[in-house]
Amino acid sequence: MAYQLEVVDLQTLPPATSVLSERENAFFQTLKLPKRKTEWLGGRLALKRVVSAHVRLPIQAIEILPHAENGKPQLLIGGERSMLPFSITHSNGYAVAAIAPQAQYIGIDLEKIAPRINAWKTDFFHPTELTGEGDEFLTTLWTQKEAIVKLLGTGLAINSFEVRCVNGTPQFFGRALQIYQSLGSPAITLETRTLLEGFAFSVAVGN
Ligand SMILES: CC(C)(COP(=O)(O)OP(=O)(O)OC[C@H]1O[C@@H](n2cnc3c(N)ncnc32)[C@H](O)[C@@H]1OP(=O)(O)O)[C@@H](O)C(=O)NCCC(=O)NCCS
Repeated sequence: MAYQLEVVDLQTLPPATSVLSERENAFFQTLKLPKRKTEWLGGRLALKRVVSAHVRLPIQAIEILPHAENGKPQLLIGGERSMLPFSITHSNGYAVAAIAPQAQYIGIDLEKIAPRINAWKTDFFHPTELTGEGDEFLTTLWTQKEAIVKLLGTGLAINSFEVRCVNGTPQFFGRALQIYQSLGSPAITLETRTLLEGFAFSVAVGN
């Protein structure tokens, strides 16, 4: 599966002004919570680095602007809206961004492996998805589902039962199926790997 990614340790962030454009900085200043600010900045730095290496332009040529409708940001390269598939995630001190230049869609998700309450398990996962047990299994399953909803561009505005991941294979129902079909029913490859010790990480790429 072809994608490129960049990991940023949020403890080693450069000053925001060296990363953000004027427009990005204006939005950054509206964020109130320090954790949110750090994650938002780290996500931008990670994406700018990976895009910069791909297009061979300085990070100042790359802008990532918030998108009001669904939360998925917009990527601009040299001031032009780019169709390069990208995705951002952050979790427990790290931000990760990935691009899939040869694909049509990408979604990624990083989560720290941790115990979850039973209600979380039954609220978010359809019984058919629960083919295993334990913190690592459930956190991994969660990252797979989130990677897929990010690939769709909906995030969790969608009913989480309508996007299922059964033994690594995505399945769509209801509105999620309609959205998947509206994207041209891409073939989705799902990869789960150890990116950072103690975390689950999944990448969904659609062609
Ligand atoms: C997209 C979504 C799934 C993000 O989940 P998350 O685990 O909270 O956050 P992550 O750090 O993995 O990802 C956040 C990034 O996803 C991206 N994103 C947001 N909306 C998106 C969308 N509709 N499509 C694709 N990507 C999106 C953004 O880049 C965002 O980072 P940014 O705001 O700094 O730019 C979010 O829409 C959502 O619905 N979150 C709810 C999570 C939840 O309920 N968790 C409970 C159990 S752990």
